[in-house]
Amino acid sequence: MTLLRVERLHKSFGGFEAVRDVGFTLEAGERLAIIGPNGAGKSTCFNMIGGQLRPDHGRVLLDGEDITGLPPRAVWRKGVGRTFQIAAAFGSMTVAENVQMALMNHHGRARALFPLARELYREEALALLERVGIRDQAERFCSMLAYGDIKRVELAVALAHDPRLLLMDEPTAGMAPAERHALMRLVSAIVAERGIAVLFTEHDMDVVFAYADRILVINRGRLIAEGPPEKVRADREVQAIYLGSTVESPA
Ligand SMILES: Nc1ncnc2c1ncn2[C@@H]1O[C@H](COP(=O)(O)OP(=O)(O)OP(=O)(O)O)[C@@H](O)[C@H]1O
Ligand SMILES: [Mg+2]
Repeated sequence: MTLLRVERLHKSFGGFEAVRDVGFTLEAGERLAIIGPNGAGKSTCFNMIGGQLRPDHGRVLLDGEDITGLPPRAVWRKGVGRTFQIAAAFGSMTVAENVQMALMNHHGRARALFPLARELYREEALALLERVGIRDQAERFCSMLAYGDIKRVELAVALAHDPRLLLMDEPTAGMAPAERHALMRLVSAIVAERGIAVLFTEHDMDVVFAYADRILVINRGRLIAEGPPEKVRADREVQAIYLGSTVESPA
């Protein structure tokens, strides 16, 4: 079943065409990677799907419903969870409080006064933290966390909204290889157990080929290849783009 359908998405900044007529579909249960060199237009695509940017033209359909141009809050209410290329969490709150806030938001109780709401959704928050492997960090302030753990807080926050689709822009940027694989194994397991889908970007090709069911390659804003990992790996144009260039993100 097609969960996400993107049709001819296009975005210019001034006269510069960052994304040109990109279209693809994503099925429930699928792990789809968008790869491409720095500046290819990956984050711009994510931002048009997540509602942070309005496309110049093109459409984004979620479960057949047109969500093009909706603001980010409306998009996540429709079931699209999001993590960003730059990890973000409220540093002045504990890990558990960050996830509790997300749960309160999800249940429409965002106006509960936080000091009075210490216990609100606490058990659910701890269960999510357990699932993403940082239950033992629950009482720490986010500002004290290692970068990799902040990515896990972000994942727990995204899951608090019970998404049908996860958008993850470079979820493993800045991590050591072993940590990258651990995070993507976790994401894969969560996608499978919830029957949801994930669209992710990633610069480490080992990670991409290990965890993507299908790969989209964009270069200079255009989709240039698409298919299962073996097919993309064998594609001459893809090889030419990556040959001799570093595919590691400077993070
Ligand atoms: N708000 C903006 N204003 C002007 N140009 C922008 C803006 N956002 C992105 N761009 C440009 O659009 C192009 C695509 O950027 P984008 O961030 O989508 O690339 P990316 O594929 O995510 O790259 P990276 O791998 O470095 O994260 C780049 O040339 C970038 O400089
Ligand atoms: Mg990017």
